[in-house]
Amino acid sequence: MFNSDTITKFQSTETPFYYYDMEVLRQTLQACHDASAQYNFHVHYALKANFNPKVLDMIQSFGFGADCVSGGEVKAAIEHGFGKEKVVFAGVGKSDKEINLALDADIFCFNVESVQELHIINELAAAKNKVAKVAIRINPNVDAHTHHFITTGLDENKFGVNTWQLTDVVEALRASKNLEFLGIHFHIGSQITDMEVYKSLCIRINEMQDWFEDHGFQIKVLNTGGGLGVDYYNPDTNTISDFESYFKVFKDFLNVKPGQEVHFELGRALVAQSASLISRVLYVKNGQKKNFLVLDAGMTELIRPMLYQAYHVIENLTQNSSPTTQDLKYDVVGPICESTDCFRKDVDLPESFRGDIIAVRSAGAYGEVMASGYNLRERVQSVYSE
Ligand code: LLP
Repeated sequence: MFNSDTITKFQSTETPFYYYDMEVLRQTLQACHDASAQYNFHVHYALKANFNPKVLDMIQSFGFGADCVSGGEVKAAIEHGFGKEKVVFAGVGKSDKEINLALDADIFCFNVESVQELHIINELAAAKNKVAKVAIRINPNVDAHTHHFITTGLDENKFGVNTWQLTDVVEALRASKNLEFLGIHFHIGSQITDMEVYKSLCIRINEMQDWFEDHGFQIKVLNTGGGLGVDYYNPDTNTISDFESYFKVFKDFLNVKPGQEVHFELGRALVAQSASLISRVLYVKNGQKKNFLVLDAGMTELIRPMLYQAYHVIENLTQNSSPTTQDLKYDVVGPICESTDCFRKDVDLPESFRGDIIAVRSAGAYGEVMASGYNLRERVQSVYSE
């Protein structure tokens, strides 16, 4: 929801840009902080969702840790003040250079995704005379009931170690003098809104920790990953995800033993609703079968609709306030030379004109960070509410 001052400001600003509502971000972070703190749960923010510097600074100020998936993210987390003792590093393809960078930074934990990676981290740590702390990312074969492209915890996915490989993992751990085993890590997918899925995950985690203990390994850290979804359909009325219910599932169903820590890696739920992509209508094309609104933003600024058929609310901020205009159906498209460069087909919008300001809502997660320079487009700018 934008007030008239904000819309006036948009009108005089060069588009396209990401608009960050820092108050929405603050309230979301506070809600997550409060809901997790009551159980002493540790939350790492998944930088991949958004590494805009101002966003990182605010998230860091709430005391969250950082979940990174590249050397660049490890560096950015530390530069933005996330304590190195709160940095975790996952990823199915960590390069030697990235592992070395993380070893030099003395991060909290590597979330290791294969037996071969365990051997490599052990070797690289030995060369530096260091001991790397590791958690094993286990593929629990739990269906996240989300879009196929953002499901990660099934046997068919490339992530983590499958359960039938765990005996090789414990052998490797026993043989590796430069590794300290901290615990187990999971991440089954993203935009998960069904809490039953997390209940199933808890049951799998309990089984897995028993397995490790039966094999003589003590678990200090249970890292459940991230994935909590947001309401893309109702960004104004359901702005903050239900962190209370989410953490309560783990409180109720995870078998946490004395001295164990429970960790989470949330990305989307912390940042998605805090930003909108703001653009202008360049052209209106009225066809016999279709009306097109051609925006000055496209898949180079926000690729989620094109890549995952993701739904985002689309609003005409210029015409919304005028009740005289009648709704029409438009295919809202970008300027990129690709047929897939379409935000959504048949969107009901008031009659729209060249120059109108269009907001694509809930774009704070996997928006700006996935922008590209395809077609030699200029890098999308950011504007902040404060
Ligand atoms: N931990 C790991 C190991 C991950 O791979 C991810 C996300 C997260 C945590 C954070 O997940 P979240 O809480 O944000 O769901 N680009 C896609 C989403 C890709 C998610 C990748 N991994 C999208 O726009 O929907």
